[in-house]
Amino acid sequence: MKKGILISLEGPEGAGKSSVLEALLPFLENIGTGIVTTREPGGVKIAEDIRAVILDPAHTEMDAKTELLLYIASRRQHLAERVLPALDQGKTVIMDRFIDSSVAYQGYGRGLSVTDIEWLNQFATDGLKPDLTLYFDIDVEEGLARIAKNQDREINRLDLEGLGLHQRVRQGYLAILGKEPDRFVKIDASQPLDAVVRDSLAVIQNRFGKLS
Ligand code: TYD
Repeated sequence: MKKGILISLEGPEGAGKSSVLEALLPFLENIGTGIVTTREPGGVKIAEDIRAVILDPAHTEMDAKTELLLYIASRRQHLAERVLPALDQGKTVIMDRFIDSSVAYQGYGRGLSVTDIEWLNQFATDGLKPDLTLYFDIDVEEGLARIAKNQDREINRLDLEGLGLHQRVRQGYLAILGKEPDRFVKIDASQPLDAVVRDSLAVIQNRFGKLS
């Protein structure tokens, strides 16, 4: 039985989710009985192994449905092994990417059926949805330019895709925003980092009360 809070972070490439999360953490320590931060695809051994198969730049022949099913498999394992136990203990779980990434990337980006993806997400999560999703919105070309500047970032198979895919991904996120504006809250990620952190914190406090 879920007692903790589940927050997911979403956005196109270069939106800065990881930097925002790192800066947010010190402010979040007082919610619930502790914070667990994790990422998809990955977060536990089996899911990290699946991640390596999905994102290997050499796997250029990967079929779109295979890609979707691997993300879904990794989601299920991570949820069962890591997320659900933490929520049961009343912890606040912050996930870097979750169900909406499949809708945006494999649905809008790759052109697979969004209805099928929603069903697969439901199957993998037993219907668990985030209490809140922070969607970091940025112009696609601006996001990709940020990534290109970051020398330390490993290049994965999706980074090698053309601009068109990433533009469709952003359209996908904006479509989710239109459908679920209460859960899925847009943050302007083109601002300087401290402004993005401030806006994110304001949304979290507004939703869950003062944190410290
Ligand atoms: P990662 O290096 O973690 O990217 P980012 O820092 O942008 O989160 O790689 C994850 C990639 O996998 C990213 O390009 C988004 C993609 N992805 C999907 O296509 N579908 C999914 O369901 C998930 C969870 C991620």
